[in-house]
Amino acid sequence: FVPFTGVVAVDGPSGSGKSTVSRRLAAALGARYLDTGAMYRAVTLAVLRAGVDPSDTDGVLSVLYGVDLQMGTDPAQPGVRLNGESVDRQIRTEQVTGAVSAVSSVPGVRTVMIAQQRAIAATGGIVIEGRDITTVVAPDADVRVLLTASAAARAARRGGETGTNAAEQQRAMRRRDELDSRTSSFLSAADEGVLVLDSTELGIDEVVDQLVHAVHVGAFGP
Ligand code: DC
Repeated sequence: FVPFTGVVAVDGPSGSGKSTVSRRLAAALGARYLDTGAMYRAVTLAVLRAGVDPSDTDGVLSVLYGVDLQMGTDPAQPGVRLNGESVDRQIRTEQVTGAVSAVSSVPGVRTVMIAQQRAIAATGGIVIEGRDITTVVAPDADVRVLLTASAAARAARRGGETGTNAAEQQRAMRRRDELDSRTSSFLSAADEGVLVLDSTELGIDEVVDQLVHAVHVGAFGP
């Protein structure tokens, strides 16, 4: 078994199965894993804890400069540390989810996060997932994938994860997609060379198998 030394970039909206699939892919390849959404979520948590309004750009930036993020890249245990504190649960609350689009749309926040993401990716052997990985963070990645799924499938997956009412969940998700796509247009099939995989009708194992195939062959399987 030869561990993968290149870079795989995976983009997609929430509920596309991107995180689970990317983690599993990294494990299968013997590679590291980076969840860039968790980075924006951790900065958002710091903003909320500081009592700063997420739409106050200067306030957000002043919080950002006091933030020390440590991203774990072991796919078996990809923890996030905010100023030394493990915040894996705290970054998944509804408050953080509701504020993250505002924080991640601040250009200065993106500049700092993208620089950190590129530094982590620079040594290779990694699967990175997010919204702008195939286009901005790692446009030269060996394999670039856009993972999609129907709105209904995405809402059902998210609802299953959090146990919230499906209709409300779908509304909140659409709102966040709409806000996020003003920042990075992940929903449109990116440039040439990006493999688009619709996971609506596929199980997680099938999606992971397709991606492993793409890493080895450069295209999805038959
Ligand atoms: O994938 P997620 O739901 O954990 O992402 C959280 C938020 O962070 C999402 O609303 C959009 C933003 N994000 C981003 O702007 N760029 C990325 N590369 C990853 C996430």
